[in-house]
Amino acid sequence: MKINKVVIPVAGWGTRSLPATKNLPKEILPVFKKPAIQYIVEEAKAAGLDNVIFITNKNKNILEDHFDYNLSLEWVLERTGKMELLQEVRKVSELANIISIRQKRQLGLGHAVLCAKEVVRDDPFAVILGDDLLFSSVPGIKQLIEVAETENMAVVGVMPVEKSQVSRYGIINAEEIGPHIYRVRELQEKPKVEEAASNLAIIGRYVLTPEIFYHLEKIFDPNQMGELELTEGLRRLAKDNKLLAVRLHGMRFDVGHWVDYLIANIYFALQDEELRDDIINRLRELIPC
Ligand code: G1P
Repeated sequence: MKINKVVIPVAGWGTRSLPATKNLPKEILPVFKKPAIQYIVEEAKAAGLDNVIFITNKNKNILEDHFDYNLSLEWVLERTGKMELLQEVRKVSELANIISIRQKRQLGLGHAVLCAKEVVRDDPFAVILGDDLLFSSVPGIKQLIEVAETENMAVVGVMPVEKSQVSRYGIINAEEIGPHIYRVRELQEKPKVEEAASNLAIIGRYVLTPEIFYHLEKIFDPNQMGELELTEGLRRLAKDNKLLAVRLHGMRFDVGHWVDYLIANIYFALQDEELRDDIINRLRELIPC
């Protein structure tokens, strides 16, 4: 199993981030100096995923533009001798091969993944969700790819969450079969706290086999108004004993929620040697002891 494609669904409305996202894709909101989507594409690139498939809509062209050359800007930077910035800007354009697919109706994550079928074809592929930023010495999606490639199976990335948070996630019921590796028996999408089988939550990272399209197509009703959940397709893989989970390690920020979004900004700003002291001092002013 060799994986070199990643599907990144970006067609959502970003209602949790309104009003900032009234006319801006939530994925373009900056986390410190870069748009959130850049961290996701950088993670994919670091895991050897050169082909990035955006599942997009008509309001999201700015995301593709971010990964394309901006020749007039490059010309200005070159003319004014801002060579470091020039290099940084150019590097983003050369990060990945971007392929865009329109999701013409927003019918859920399962539907978004199904939209990639004709481009993915018969190859296994990765999926990363734009809300979950994950930082670790081994890129999050690579942690899954390593297991998927050795076991020849679909894998979801999970992390333990507070019991009170389980209703925000897909939750797995699984048995540990190796260090940080689980065989998934069942899944629940956003269960009530009292009904959750565990506190192991799916964290926006998947490696899937094309079999998922078969399952999603079977469940999908083109007349449906409600959401087609990816978890429903995963449940069918699990039922056939074809789904593993890997407990991800790393620092995670759910930038679709304001607290995590703001903390992620501060976290990155604090890594910047030039700004660190200023930021700490300003924060101290804001929070008098
Ligand atoms: C989606 C998935 C859910 C997963 C979550 C991770 O939910 O449906 O299973 O746990 O992403 O962020 P969403 O956050 O899009 O509602």
